[in-house]
Amino acid sequence: MNIIKNFYVFEGGDGSGTTTQISLLAKRIKNIDFYPTFEPTDGQIGRIIRSALKKEIVIKPQTLALLFAADRNEHLYGADGILAQVDKGCLVISDRYALSSLVYQGIECGDELPGLLNSGFPAPELTFFLDIEPETAISRMKDRSSLEIYEYLDFQKKVREKYLSLIKGYKARVEIIDASKSASEVEDQVWNILRQMPIFNI
Ligand code: TYD
Repeated sequence: MNIIKNFYVFEGGDGSGTTTQISLLAKRIKNIDFYPTFEPTDGQIGRIIRSALKKEIVIKPQTLALLFAADRNEHLYGADGILAQVDKGCLVISDRYALSSLVYQGIECGDELPGLLNSGFPAPELTFFLDIEPETAISRMKDRSSLEIYEYLDFQKKVREKYLSLIKGYKARVEIIDASKSASEVEDQVWNILRQMPIFNI
C-alpha cells in the first residue's frame, strides 16, 4: 500500500469532533508548517457535494460516491493539493479522507462502488478515528439549525459499526480515540500519539 508521509487524517461519525480537534492542533503545532484541510473540499466539486448534503439538490447515492472520489482526486493531486503540500515539507492533516467514502457511501451504495473508486488513493501515514456513541454524537448536534442527510441516529449507528469493522482490515495505521471525553482530553490523547511521529522528532 502506498503511504503518504506526513499526511494524517481524522475520521469519525458526524458530531465526533474531528473539526474541533484539527483547530485545537493548529494552536498547538509550532515550528512546523502545518496545512489543515478537509473533505468535502471548498472547491467546485466539494460545493456540489455540500449542496447535496444540505438537501438543496437531490442526487443519486452513486453519483455522490463519484463526486466524493472526484473531489478527493483534486484534493490530492491538484495544484496546492495534499501531495504538493507534503512535498513542500508541510504537515498535512485532513478532516476526513477515503475511509469516509468506504463507510458512508458503503452504507448507501454497497461496498463495491466506493471500494473501486477509492482503492487507488494512497493512504495517510496515520488515521485518528474519533470513536463516540452515536447517541452522544447526535445529542451534541441538537443546537444545529438544520441537519444534513446523514445526521440521524439510525444512520450514525451504522456509520460507527462500519468504521470499526473496516478499521480491523485496514492496512494503514489507525488509532482509535475515545471521543466521548471533553475536547481537551481528546486533544491530549491525540497529541500524545502525534508528537511521537517522525516529523516532530527531526
Ligand atoms: P463533515 O466533516 O461533517 O463536514 P461539516 O462538519 O462541514 O458538516 O462532513 C460532511 C459529511 O460528508 C459527513 O456526513 C460525512 C460525509 N462524507 C461522506 O459521506 N463521504 C466522504 O467521502 C466524505 C469525505 C464525507
